Amino acid sequence: MTDVPGGSVLRPYDLQTEQRREPLGLDEPCPRLSWKLDCDRRGAAQSGYRITAAARPVDLDDPARLLWDSGRRESGEGLLVPWDGPVLQSATRYHWRVEVWDEAGAPAAAARSWFETGLLYRADWAAVWVGRDPVGQPPVDPPRDDDPAPPGGAPLFLRREFDLARRPVRARLYATARGVYEPRLNGARVGDAELAPGWTEYHQRLQYQTYDVTELLREGANVLGAVVADGWWSGHVGFDPRRPAQHYGDAPAFLAQLVVDFADGSRRLVATDASWTEEQGATRSADLLMGEHVDARWHRPGWDTPGAAPDGVRRVAVLDPDPGPLVAEPDHPVRVTREVPPVAVHQRGPHRFIVDFGQNLVGRVRLTVRGAAAGWQLAIRHAEILGGGELYRDNLRRAEATDVYTAGGEPTEVFEPRFTYHGFRYIEIDNHPGDLAGTDVVARVLHSDTPWTGHFECSDPMVNQLQSNISWGQRGNFVAVPTDCPQRDERLGWLADAQIFAPTASRNADVAAFFARWMRDVVGGQDAGGAFRDVAPVVSIRREAAPAWGDAGVIIPWHLWRTYGDREVLRRSFDAMVAWVEHIRRHNPDLRWRHRTGNSYGDWLQVDASTPRDVLSTAYFARSAQLVAAAAEVLDRPAEAARHRALHAAIRAAFIDSYVAADGTVEGGTQTGYLLALAFGLLPPRLVPAAVRHLVADIEGRGNRLSTGFVGVGLLCPVLADHGRPDLAYALLHQEEFPSWGYTIRHGATTIWERWDGWTEHGGFQSAAMNSFNHYSLGSVGDWLFGRVAGIDQAPGSVAYRELLLRPLPGGRLRWARATQQTARGTVACGWSLAGDRITVTATVPPGCTAVVELPTSDVDGVREGDAPAGDRPGVLAVEPSPAGVTVRLTSGSYTLSAPAGAPADGESTNQLAPVPLPAGRHHEEAHPAGPAGPGDRSRPAGGL
Ligand code: BGC
Repeated sequence: MTDVPGGSVLRPYDLQTEQRREPLGLDEPCPRLSWKLDCDRRGAAQSGYRITAAARPVDLDDPARLLWDSGRRESGEGLLVPWDGPVLQSATRYHWRVEVWDEAGAPAAAARSWFETGLLYRADWAAVWVGRDPVGQPPVDPPRDDDPAPPGGAPLFLRREFDLARRPVRARLYATARGVYEPRLNGARVGDAELAPGWTEYHQRLQYQTYDVTELLREGANVLGAVVADGWWSGHVGFDPRRPAQHYGDAPAFLAQLVVDFADGSRRLVATDASWTEEQGATRSADLLMGEHVDARWHRPGWDTPGAAPDGVRRVAVLDPDPGPLVAEPDHPVRVTREVPPVAVHQRGPHRFIVDFGQNLVGRVRLTVRGAAAGWQLAIRHAEILGGGELYRDNLRRAEATDVYTAGGEPTEVFEPRFTYHGFRYIEIDNHPGDLAGTDVVARVLHSDTPWTGHFECSDPMVNQLQSNISWGQRGNFVAVPTDCPQRDERLGWLADAQIFAPTASRNADVAAFFARWMRDVVGGQDAGGAFRDVAPVVSIRREAAPAWGDAGVIIPWHLWRTYGDREVLRRSFDAMVAWVEHIRRHNPDLRWRHRTGNSYGDWLQVDASTPRDVLSTAYFARSAQLVAAAAEVLDRPAEAARHRALHAAIRAAFIDSYVAADGTVEGGTQTGYLLALAFGLLPPRLVPAAVRHLVADIEGRGNRLSTGFVGVGLLCPVLADHGRPDLAYALLHQEEFPSWGYTIRHGATTIWERWDGWTEHGGFQSAAMNSFNHYSLGSVGDWLFGRVAGIDQAPGSVAYRELLLRPLPGGRLRWARATQQTARGTVACGWSLAGDRITVTATVPPGCTAVVELPTSDVDGVREGDAPAGDRPGVLAVEPSPAGVTVRLTSGSYTLSAPAGAPADGESTNQLAPVPLPAGRHHEEAHPAGPAGPGDRSRPAGGL
């Protein structure tokens, strides 16, 4: 199967099982199969499909050997078709093929893929949890807050030697850790996952990974091993002072099962048990927040190959005979995805260097060390920004973010930590032994390896830099969970940040499986009364979630349904969604969400504005009730749908009654107040124009500047553009004075800052108590860049981009813009350019999909494709005048339309009820766990070295 699109025959491609390509180790009993479609021919569509499955690829061609034959199904759908074959067996590969029929009912192409099950039943597990035997260990000092040493002692180097009479035909390793681990087999690293098993609510679900290790095994002696460090299990997590076992446990442990199959059908199992041994190795300590210390003098070559000397080797202890709640990893693991070389290396003393990678990124450094004597120790400190030419690290709070290397005395040694990660653009290498060549150091970027699916670009370099900053913020903060920031002692799965950014994230990457998995932790964190928590997994912050935070539990499943057609995540989350809304209603019988039993952050990090909390909360209450009603409809639960529709109407009435004046003023008069009311459709239609005027007046009164925090920011440009003021949306996009995206870029930002005033000319650095330079929330404008600036959107009732709404919006100083998105159904593209007095719009619509293109022209007869009137061209269904200009209706295919430019869309949008992207925030009335933001530090800026 090739994935190169093109050709006039309808073709399925990018076959996926449970939203991943060829996954190894699935444990879904009825995995869902999907494919995308491609075809150059206009109007191409799938009219039917047939799925067949077999044990071997060749059997797919033999009807007698099929395990499952769906038969021909008359359906245009290729998304998430549930397995309907025989009950799946553990540890078995299933090959499947889909063949499709085109719109004329003619057979078209077929494509193949496979998936493999993991260990489906508890009884499949023979392995037990092993780790360091606490008996006979030197006592661990009571942990101190400032002590970077791991509470459980040095990381574990575990091994088990075993013999194989011959080479296997197939071998799989199923492994996981309480901690983070790197599996080893015969001296080689197994797989390329980083920070496995990732982070989940470990007491509810702990993920195991599956590796194909057939090629690593040999006849004779073999060694299976692993290095295991504290990770999220027993290391520092969040901003709590360290206590042993504060979150999950006080020491790391490992569990693995190697299943080896031979040609004669026999099987050999090697599982963790009391026969394993444990020793200490070169990794002396490793902590996600503090950093890692490797002492190469401890390295014992061959520790993970057969026959290694047993010095210092002890038997492990069986720490727990019960494997616990193991689940197969359902999404893409964290991986190193690219390397970034330095842009500058500055020597600051005989042994001290500052290295600039030119990009605020997340990962760690690989350093080649030359000519260091045994015992020579160097340190690598990380920072996002410089102050006065030196690393500015105050904003890391308790995170040491320092890696230490002690040389072993070899002429050339390579140091790269494996069980920690940092957010940084700059490093300081302290006590480097000699000259540092630029080629000796490289930054290795790691994140959850969600496939990158989106591309946006336009004629304005500043806007392109904004898109780049947004993308880097996404890369750096999608590390096992969607985190708020990657550098300080926090890195938590804050719910509002995630729901605000999810629409943007799903433009850039395929985050379907990532968010669906995280939603299990959001739901798992809900209390018996229906309250979600601010963060998932639940650590550091245990109170009930704030408005706009807890609502992520409703908004994200809905977003996944709309974007990816994932009905299952909606079904699975539905009771929790209902319970959350019911929880708010129970505590607020008059339907104004005033009585908050948990946190409240308001429009978090707004500037010079104070959106009343009750306005914000009640708006979100209405939104959640509305989305629960919509979800109930999708799930065919009419009674719940009706109940929540009525509840939504009643909350909306209460909102109007309490917070909306007769002149359209929304209480508080803030931008975010108006944005929420307009975006969520809370106003009586007759007051909408007045509310828009108030919003516009506030923005214009500030010199075309925003005042929104997390909650409002993502709504600004969409609401302005949809209510006849795209010019003002562009003015905000291009604004370079404080506060704006442009201001941060003008001052060197390469990621999205947590706060508009992270650093300002007038105030220097904001309080170090809370000042990250890599938070994605304020980057939630990215959805609008794709959705309006380039023009890729879907119609209000459409699911997974079945009915495209392509609304290119020329404006500002842009001459052109374009975006491509690999959607769940296939490639969608939209772009525009202005030349002379004409606008050219390009559009790509996947097979089976339709598009409504809103062309910003008033000349319905002037719309052409090539030399012909557009209406005469194949695939063009209609060219009609519309309030927004001219509407062109298209079937699938690629088009290049042109028209006289003019009359840019200024009609009221029809899209207000579509689930618009929402953002989040708070004012500083309630003490933040990290302490209130103090006055800005006046030290000088980053500004390069
Ligand atoms: C986090 C945010 C979060 C906020 C809630 C901050 O410390 O970094 O992203 O949403 O707290 O108040």
